[in-house]
Amino acid sequence: MIKKGIILAGGHGTRMSPLTKAVNKQLLPIYDKPLIYYPLSILMLAGIKEVLIIVNKGQLNQFKKILNHGKRFGIKINYAEQQTPKGLPDAFILGERFIGKDNIALILGDNFFYGQSLTKKLKSCVKIKSGCKIVLHPVNKPELYGVAILNKKNKIISLNEKPKNSKSNLAVTGLYFFDNKVINYSKSLKPSKRNELEIIDLLNKYRREKKLSAEFLGRGGAWLDTGSIDDFYNTSAFVSSLENRQGLKIACLEEIALKYSWIGKKQIQEAINFYGKCIYSDYLKKLIK
Ligand code: G1P
Repeated sequence: MIKKGIILAGGHGTRMSPLTKAVNKQLLPIYDKPLIYYPLSILMLAGIKEVLIIVNKGQLNQFKKILNHGKRFGIKINYAEQQTPKGLPDAFILGERFIGKDNIALILGDNFFYGQSLTKKLKSCVKIKSGCKIVLHPVNKPELYGVAILNKKNKIISLNEKPKNSKSNLAVTGLYFFDNKVINYSKSLKPSKRNELEIIDLLNKYRREKKLSAEFLGRGGAWLDTGSIDDFYNTSAFVSSLENRQGLKIACLEEIALKYSWIGKKQIQEAINFYGKCIYSDYLKKLIK
């Protein structure tokens, strides 16, 4: 059972400048809460209570102000600072001590997932004992992502990063589940032409060992990424439509923690005090009424 997860929340967010000049991208709003709440909610829904957030050097305090060490959500949040972004697999080198001898989940700080039976799928993914599991989802523009080609038995036969003319529309989403070998595999990777360690190279190591498997969100599921300013507005509109129609929040971390009995009414009240008078607090009040 995977009990630990890493959120990669570094990066310069250059595509979103000037919004990201003073504030880390993961702290910008997706509708009514900071972006980081969404990937963190995914780890929590998977039952993961020990989290490492990798942030840019100098931005630690911004994150601590809003998440601190996770007590509000009944979890433990650790932080690591990244001097410069060196590619996604660097997360496992920076996180070596945090990971220890355990298996590990990784989610990219700008990935958004939503869908019926998502929790059930996440809970099945964290069950991996060895190998690597990735989550695939169709997209209209596969050239922007890592892309998987499957055979008739749904086995991954090839993986390519941002291929120009792909035969497949199945993108590799930014949610990955690894066994402990990921640390040594990451250390053995060579930087690519753009001088970064590439997640696709890491996944290909597992594939060659016949240790790579895939989970699918299914067409009722949504995977959005928030790389550009337009993506931010589109994802915000998605969240706002669903939340306002249903009166239920997406990625309310305290709600997930309460549902899993990681916190009680007392901590919800503390959270209300922490947030102050706002719509988010009104929602929390309803949870303990
Ligand atoms: C990264 C990965 C890519 C993956 C994507 C998911 O791309 O390299 O394989 O499909 O995240 O969000 P990037 O966002 O760094 O361009």
